[in-house]
Amino acid sequence: MKKGLFITFEGIDGCGKTTQIKLLKETLEKQGEKVLLTREPGAKGLGEKLREILLNYEGEVSSNCESFLFLADRAQHIDTIIRPAIDTGYIVICDRHTDSTVAYQGYGRKLDLEQIHYLNNIATNGIKPDLTFILDIDVETSIQRIGNARDRMESSGIDFFNCVREGYIEISKQEPNRVKLLNGNDSIENLHKQIMDYIENLSADA
Ligand code: TYD
Repeated sequence: MKKGLFITFEGIDGCGKTTQIKLLKETLEKQGEKVLLTREPGAKGLGEKLREILLNYEGEVSSNCESFLFLADRAQHIDTIIRPAIDTGYIVICDRHTDSTVAYQGYGRKLDLEQIHYLNNIATNGIKPDLTFILDIDVETSIQRIGNARDRMESSGIDFFNCVREGYIEISKQEPNRVKLLNGNDSIENLHKQIMDYIENLSADA
C-alpha cells in the first residue's frame, strides 16, 4: 500500500496553526486523500493524561521532567497513532512535534540541544516529518492572542517566548529542506496557498 505523508505544524502559542491545519485537512480531503489530524501533547488515551499534567499541574515541574513527559507522550503517539497511519497511506497532520521540544525545552528552558535531538530520535524511532511549517509571529502578537487565560506553558513569560521564537528561526535555517518558516501575519488564504504549493512540490518530487 502507498506510504502516507507526515506533516507537522509549529510556532509559538497563538501563531494561527489551528486555522491552517483545519484548512489543509479540508483541501486534502476534497482531493480524495485520507487525512489524520492529530496533536502533541495529548492525542488521545494516555496522551491526554500526560497533556493534563503538562498544561495544568500547579506544583513545581523541573525542566528535565517536563521534557521527559513531552517525550513520553511523543513515543506513545508515534507508536500507536502516527506510524500505523502513515503505513496505511494516511497524510498525517500533527499540531506540534519534535521541533516544539527543541524550541521550548531546548531554546526556551535552555536544556542541552544535542541531548534533546538524541532523545527526540529515541521517542520517534527515527521517524521524521516530510515537511514542517513554522508560522512565525512576534511575541507581542502571541501574548495578545493568548489573552489572560493561560496554561502552565503559556505562563512562562516574554523572555522565554523570545527564546522559543529564536529557536524556531534557527531550526528553519538548519533544516531548510524539511522546515519552512512562514510569516504568520500573512493572510489566511496566502498562507494556505504557500502550504499547498510546498506539499504539491513534495508529492511531485516523490
Ligand atoms: P497547546 O494548548 O496544544 O498549545 P497550542 O495550541 O499553542 O499548540 O499546548 C501545548 C503547549 O506545550 C504549548 O505551549 C507548547 C508546549 N510544548 C512544549 O513545550 N514542548 C513540546 O515538546 C510540545 C509538543 C509542546
